[in-house]
Amino acid sequence: MSEEITGKKSSVILGIGSYVPEKILGNVELSQKVETSDEWIYSRTGISERRIASDKQSTSDLACLAAKKAIRNAGIGVEQIDLVIVATITPDMSFPSTACLLQHKLGLNQVACFDLEAACSGFLYSLDVADSMLSSGRYKCALVIGAEKMSSIMDWEDRTTCVLFGDGAGAAVLSSGGEGPELLGFRSGADGSNPTLLHQPAGGSLKPASPNTIREREHFLKMNGREIFKSAVRVMEKATRELLADHSLDLADISHVIPHQANVRIFESMAQRLEIPMEKFFCNLDRHGNTSAASIPLALDEAMRTGLFKTGEFAVLVAFGAGLTWSATLVRF
Ligand code: UT7
Repeated sequence: MSEEITGKKSSVILGIGSYVPEKILGNVELSQKVETSDEWIYSRTGISERRIASDKQSTSDLACLAAKKAIRNAGIGVEQIDLVIVATITPDMSFPSTACLLQHKLGLNQVACFDLEAACSGFLYSLDVADSMLSSGRYKCALVIGAEKMSSIMDWEDRTTCVLFGDGAGAAVLSSGGEGPELLGFRSGADGSNPTLLHQPAGGSLKPASPNTIREREHFLKMNGREIFKSAVRVMEKATRELLADHSLDLADISHVIPHQANVRIFESMAQRLEIPMEKFFCNLDRHGNTSAASIPLALDEAMRTGLFKTGEFAVLVAFGAGLTWSATLVRF
């Protein structure tokens, strides 16, 4: 039936897995470091706590632990993987890619490995790209990961951002055909007209690291939260509507929405605009905060493990992020 809908063989999720670091940083503890409160954070965002990686853990370490679970869950051998995509804005280093570092840690064959940078939409962009590469017939089995050590780019003196983010990783093994949830379609887009709404100003070719960039705290994430909030609701609604129209589905056909876990008030606005009941929105940001590219696979893994999805149900995975980027994926379980 997927071929009937899409006109091509769907990629399927053979297995999924996630990892979050042990250290829990709760709102109360955070309010001892920066001028904020549990009440403010929870009422404005829905976040209660987030996980923080240890000094020794890099993004590829988090990715590796999530990937091992996904591979085990898929029931395949590592030698079957012939493509690795890591979505991240907190790579271990600018280059080589985190995907290459991960390849070595996992003991994979010398297969194609690259990072994809689409911020919080990165995992869904990566599914879109992996699906295209699998459907070309040149790749058979892709490992797609969203992994972030957001704590490494947090300004712990900036209460407007440091309360929002957390660390973690989620991974999926995809194949062209096989048994598992089917990826039926994608809608990805971007608007680069206002890049400073959410960015890390220094450390790239525009503003290389210097004593001045360090003094000005320009290696940390900066955000205009209010503007991002409004754009997020608008673009996620648009992507969802377009995705469903592509597949001649109605909003009522959707049993679940797995949104990028940024703010529960964003879910509420989307639910209102799309007229989808809030109960259909999966939420785990109370325990993880915003883990950027890791947020969708972390949520998907948790939702699948709790048996949320029934066979035949449709779900929309939808994200937005710095860029601005957005992406939506239609899944049938
Ligand atoms: O993956 C994409 C990442 N980005 C997002 O998803 C962000 C989207 N935006 C948001 O989630 C919300 O805009 C925030 C949670 C970031 C902020 O919520 P808001 O309701 O838009 O608050 P605000 O920025 O309008 O700030 C309201 C007040 C301000 O004080 P004044 O100017 O009214 O006196 C802030 O200074 O809250 C103050 N404030 C805080 N107070 C206590 C800002 N951060 C904090 C804080 N604790 N952590």
